[in-house]
Amino acid sequence: MIKNTRLGYGAVAILFHWTMALLIIGMLGLGLYMVRLPQSDPNAFALFQLHKSIGFVVLTLAVLRLAWRLVNPSPKLPADMPVWEKGVAHLGHTGLYAMMFLLPLSGWLVVSASPWGIPTIVFNLFEMPHLPVPGDKGQAEVFASAVHEYGAYFLILLIAGHVAAAFKHHFIARDETLKRMVSVRTSHAA
Ligand code: HEM
Ligand code: HEM
Repeated sequence: MIKNTRLGYGAVAILFHWTMALLIIGMLGLGLYMVRLPQSDPNAFALFQLHKSIGFVVLTLAVLRLAWRLVNPSPKLPADMPVWEKGVAHLGHTGLYAMMFLLPLSGWLVVSASPWGIPTIVFNLFEMPHLPVPGDKGQAEVFASAVHEYGAYFLILLIAGHVAAAFKHHFIARDETLKRMVSVRTSHAA
C-alpha cells in the first residue's frame, strides 16, 4: 500500500505525484503572471518571494521523490502498449523529472547571479543563501534566466503531452493507467 509494486503505484508515489503536479502547475502560472507585473506593483515583491519559496519546496520534494523512486520498483506499463509508445512514455517521465530539478536550480542561479542581490526569505521564515557564482555574474544571470524561461516553456509542452497521454489511456484505450495514479486499490488490483 505504501510502496510501489510492479503492478501499481503505492500511496507515497501517488501523494508525491499529485502534490507536485499541483505545485508545479501553480508555479508555472505564478511565474508567468508575476514577470508581467509592472515593477511598481505593490504585490510584485511578495509574489516573487512566494515563487522562490514554493520553488525550494518543489526542489526538496524532487530530491525525496527521486530517492523514493530509486528504492521502489516502477510499475510496468500496459503489456499491450507498443514498444515505441513505452519509449516515449519513459522519455517523457525522464524529461519531467529533469525539469523538476532544472527549473528550481536555474531559478536559484538567477537570483544568485542577479546584480540586485535580493535575498530569498523562504516563507518569511529564514534566508536561503545564494549559490556561489564564479566569473561574470551578468553573463551567468542572462544564461540562467534563459534556461529558466525556456525550460518553463518546455515543461509546459511536456505536461500538455503527459496529460493528453493520460487522457488517451483513460478515454480511448480505456486501461488502468490513470486509475492507478489515483488510487492505491486500483493499482494493486490490476
Ligand atoms: C517548480 C519550480 C519553478 C517553476 C515551474 C518556475 C517557473 C517560472 C516561470 C514560468 C517564470 C516566468 C518566466 C518568464 O516568462 O520570464 C519564472 C520566473 C522567475 N523565477 Fe521561477 N520557477 C520555479 C522555481 C524558481 C525558483 C526556486 C526560483 C528562485 C529561487 C525562481 C526564480 C524566478 C525568478 C527570479 C523569475 C523572474 C524571471 C527571471 O529573472 O528569469 N523560480 N519562473
Ligand atoms: C493533471 C495533470 C496530470 C495528470 C492527469 C497526470 C497523470 C499521470 C499518470 C496517469 C501517470 C502514471 C503513468 C504510468 O502508470 O506509468 C503519471 C506519472 C507521472 N507523472 Fe503525471 N500527471 C499530471 C501532471 C504531472 C505533472 C505536472 C508532472 C511533473 C511536472 C508529472 C510527472 C509525472 C511523472 C514523473 C510520472 C512517472 C511516475 C513517477 O515516477 O512518479 N505529472 N502521471
